[in-house]
Amino acid sequence: MTELSLLNKQLDALLFEEANMVANLANASALINDMYEDLNWAGFYLYNEKTDELDLGPFQGKVACMHIKNGNGVVGTAFKDQQIHRVANVHEFPGHIACDSASNSEIVVPITKDGQKLGVLDIDSPSLNRFTAENEAELGQFVEVLLKHIG
Ligand code: SME
Repeated sequence: MTELSLLNKQLDALLFEEANMVANLANASALINDMYEDLNWAGFYLYNEKTDELDLGPFQGKVACMHIKNGNGVVGTAFKDQQIHRVANVHEFPGHIACDSASNSEIVVPITKDGQKLGVLDIDSPSLNRFTAENEAELGQFVEVLLKHIG
């Protein structure tokens, strides 16, 4: 891994020697919400193999959709493709799920450990085109650091 950004160093320190996954995801979402400006939602959806859905996990923001079908919306598409989806304008994304009408752009990062698909990190902004390629790289690294502490 290349050198960690400040955010990712903070995450690594915050989760040091903590094994509880809910606690780690809750503080990881709070850290993003604190460190990134111009967000309206930051949190996790966790994969449920029995239902083939992504279930709402720890987050910061307004109440959100509880279950998203694998392959649906930005969340389900990123999970199915196992690729980061950085969407400049969610209203132009086919099948976008408007949990919070304030959202205009979104980034979703899959979380997979040793081939086991755990879920996604999902971040929304009220601004169009909020997320940069630098953000994408940092958030990819954020999930790598997170995976050291969960799963
Ligand atoms: N907009 C997402 C749904 C989740 S909320 O943004 C929290 C989507 O299209 O999958």
